[in-house]
Amino acid sequence: MSFNLHNRSLLDLIDFGPRDIRYLLDLAAELKRAKAAGTEHPRLKGKNVALIFEKSSTRTRCAFEVAVHDQGGHVTLLDSAGSQLGHKESLKDTARVLGRMFDGIEYRGFHQSVVQDIARYSHVPVWNGLTDEAHPTQVLADLLTMEEFGEKPLHEQSFCYLGDARFNMGCSLLVGGTQMGMDVRICSPADLAPPPELLTRMRELALTTGARISIETDPLKAVLGADFLYTDVWVSMGEPDAVWKQRIAELQPYQVNTALMQATGKARTRFMHCLPAMHNLDTELGRQVHEKYGLSELEVTDAVFESEASIVFSQAENRLHTIKAVLVATLGT
Ligand code: CP
Ligand code: NVA
Repeated sequence: MSFNLHNRSLLDLIDFGPRDIRYLLDLAAELKRAKAAGTEHPRLKGKNVALIFEKSSTRTRCAFEVAVHDQGGHVTLLDSAGSQLGHKESLKDTARVLGRMFDGIEYRGFHQSVVQDIARYSHVPVWNGLTDEAHPTQVLADLLTMEEFGEKPLHEQSFCYLGDARFNMGCSLLVGGTQMGMDVRICSPADLAPPPELLTRMRELALTTGARISIETDPLKAVLGADFLYTDVWVSMGEPDAVWKQRIAELQPYQVNTALMQATGKARTRFMHCLPAMHNLDTELGRQVHEKYGLSELEVTDAVFESEASIVFSQAENRLHTIKAVLVATLGT
């Protein structure tokens, strides 16, 4: 390739241009094929990767671990319970220690400024595994999945994200979709819309990428003609329990249910979710919410989640292949 992602950090998709993202998606597809064929060539031999999780994770942690192992490297997991993180040592000091021992660092936590500081002080590539503001590795997996299922180039596809659009998923989907020149619809109550500065920046970027961005409060208008409906939990990790009541009241009209899927007017609209999803009473949290608010399914109904239109587990699998692409591109030999 004519450009080089070696030694780059992935803190936010804003920092990666359309060509960088295109390269990562193509590399992910190639790595996916190689794994299936048993022809994967290890490019992280001798590399040590630190994984910092200040919030819980299933997919992101497993994807990083399996990706590094598949590529011949090693991982070390650090969380708040079993390390000095947060209690006794600042992240700035931790970053300087880890930078002396590891070749790269994944970080999941709260503020975007923390992952930026880790990159600044560690002097090794740092990958954002989710902050309040951004979830870039998730959106790479989502773009690959849309490409696989959409049967046309990304710039000819449309998606509608419904729900809390001021948090990580809404913001990163806005950025990723804009970078790839897509028809990006963001649908939320006005007070949960993307931050105005981000929106202004994305509208400017859209002039060069050809993206169409619409911000809408009415779900029926927003979903019309959409190839994909995408939603996320109504209350994110790190938010206080006190917000549940208001969030439910505000976001109930944005639930992805069979009627909303039909309102796209397209027979082949697919359903997407970064997961975990609150679609039944099989979880402790689901049962608690049910007991308090009487709802047995929240952002998506069980019928849609379990339907043929749902591609959520393909998205989850693609976390592995896209994270592997990021690791190989930024750290691989
Ligand atoms: N989608 C996602 O990031 O999942 P985890 O929280 O399980 O990592
Ligand atoms: N918005 C969610 C995304 C989980 C992958 C959260 O931050 O909890």
